[in-house]
Amino acid sequence: MCGIVGYIGNKNTKEILLDGLKELEYRGYDSAGIAVLQGDTFESFKAVGKLINLEEKTKDFITDRFAVGIGHTRWATHGKPTELNAHPHLGESSYVVHNGIIENYAELKKELMHNGVTFLSQTDTEVIVHLFEKNLKTSSSAFGAFSQTIKEIEGAYAILLVTKSEPDSIFFAKHGSPMILGKNSENENYFASSDTPLIGQCTDVNYFEDGDFGYVNPQEIAIFDKNENKKEPNFSKLSTNKLSAQKDGFRFFMEKEIYEQSVVIADTLMGRVSESEVLFDELDANLFDGINEIKLCACGTSYHSALSASYLFERYAKIKTSVEVASEFRYRQPIMTKDTLFVVISQSGETADTLETLKMAKEAGLKTLVICNVDNSSMVRLADATVLTRAGIEKGVASTKAFATQVTVFWMLTLFVAKLRNTLTNEEIAKQIILLREVPASVKVTDSMHERIKRLSKRYLHGHGFFFIGRDIFYPLALEGALKLKEISYLHAEGYPSGEMKHGPIALADPELFTIALLPQHLLYEKAKSNVEELSARDSTICVISALEFDKADDFIQISTCQDYMLEFFEMMVVVQLLSLEISIRLGNDVDMPRNLAKSVTVE
Ligand code: M6R
Repeated sequence: MCGIVGYIGNKNTKEILLDGLKELEYRGYDSAGIAVLQGDTFESFKAVGKLINLEEKTKDFITDRFAVGIGHTRWATHGKPTELNAHPHLGESSYVVHNGIIENYAELKKELMHNGVTFLSQTDTEVIVHLFEKNLKTSSSAFGAFSQTIKEIEGAYAILLVTKSEPDSIFFAKHGSPMILGKNSENENYFASSDTPLIGQCTDVNYFEDGDFGYVNPQEIAIFDKNENKKEPNFSKLSTNKLSAQKDGFRFFMEKEIYEQSVVIADTLMGRVSESEVLFDELDANLFDGINEIKLCACGTSYHSALSASYLFERYAKIKTSVEVASEFRYRQPIMTKDTLFVVISQSGETADTLETLKMAKEAGLKTLVICNVDNSSMVRLADATVLTRAGIEKGVASTKAFATQVTVFWMLTLFVAKLRNTLTNEEIAKQIILLREVPASVKVTDSMHERIKRLSKRYLHGHGFFFIGRDIFYPLALEGALKLKEISYLHAEGYPSGEMKHGPIALADPELFTIALLPQHLLYEKAKSNVEELSARDSTICVISALEFDKADDFIQISTCQDYMLEFFEMMVVVQLLSLEISIRLGNDVDMPRNLAKSVTVE
């Protein structure tokens, strides 16, 4: 995820761009940059790290007359977070910013280099500006060159380009990545990845459709659709409330974050999977040398993703894997051997218990890795290696998209290690990668599913408790479902391995005990089904989540039929998240800030 902004007008362009980027910083913050064209003079600034570094670099830069400007805040996908890889990228006399991925960049780059173009960065984005410059030489106008460029690129993008050959225009294109155009009565125009930077600056906004491209200058807003037909802008009034704008029309941040999972998982995969292998540019190949065991350590939801990972590591990478609750691990004088890779998992990177275990592992001389959502957090600074989850800022206290991206990273990491250890064939890895690429689609929330869960939720507002049950990797998902529910509904909920119910918990079974049963078609279906039948025989009220209809259930939430249990895992994850959300809303609770909890637990 990256954030982009653009401005055309007479005000202080630098401040407007920086203020806009501040609102978008949650989308990525490993580097930022701006380019401003005043008359025929371009000025561009870039800085690695948070926006504050760019502010520092631009403090003597003055913009006091008509200008066009573009800005970008980056979450690295292609190429490390360096100044050279930061946007805007320069051609001969044009700059570009881009959010998304240019899938055919390698071929385009090869061809451009063959024609003598020198590339300064490792990004996919840089091809756009060089391609534009090349097309400019043979086109009758800058817009002609820009439309030709858009025809030649493939992938997902929101692009802004400024060029000396049309010094009062911004060229734009949107396909698969968000971008909005704003205007006001002072004849100023703004672009941004979301509407929050525009609040207070613009009165009206135009939401582009995929395939839209064109240009904006003080005289004209020209928009063309994907078939190159000119269309009228479709402006609507912009909300004046920042908080509700940040929620994009959703009732709660948690709801928005559940809906965002498809996009952030796609971001997490971006640049890390080819057809035949998983690539982690950020990991040294020798990280796994001499490693015979993986120890995963975390708290809460991150612990559940670690537990999920342990099934995958042992199944696919055939490596011994253990999982620890950080608050327990730190005081139990654990034995740590140097052939163990110590992995901490944390959304925030600041959780005190988890951080402490990382320090212990470092002191014991173990190699360490952190799976984290926040760059530059304490854990990221301390660990030997980092893989970022790219979920973007998670505001709801109940974690959703962070969990989704953690499991995605772990699945990729398993395949990465399986390749190193030769425990899966290339064909098996390629098959898994096909499945991985299907995850963004499998977590898309459909109206019908959300409506069904909303309706069902009214039957689950009382009772003396919930059991979430599942087998294998669906057991950690059951734990996560129960945690979500108790955090925001304050109802008592437990996660259990389905096969354990008969060893005690089944004593609680009666119609007022609600069982949420995870029944994947592609993993131990018959075994898990018998466990549910045992509960049904004791008159427990049962809600089954499965692709296959189950006649002994009181309620049934159907997921789609797919080819693999991991896709079922992700779809069921969305179902349990939505179920907790809807129950909590019906109970009138504050979903985003549930009682007694905090987003980041920096005390032990
Ligand atoms: O930031 P972390 O992932 O280290 O946080 C760990 C837990 O505090 C966190 O997952 C907590 O359980 C969430 N509220 C779960 O929704």
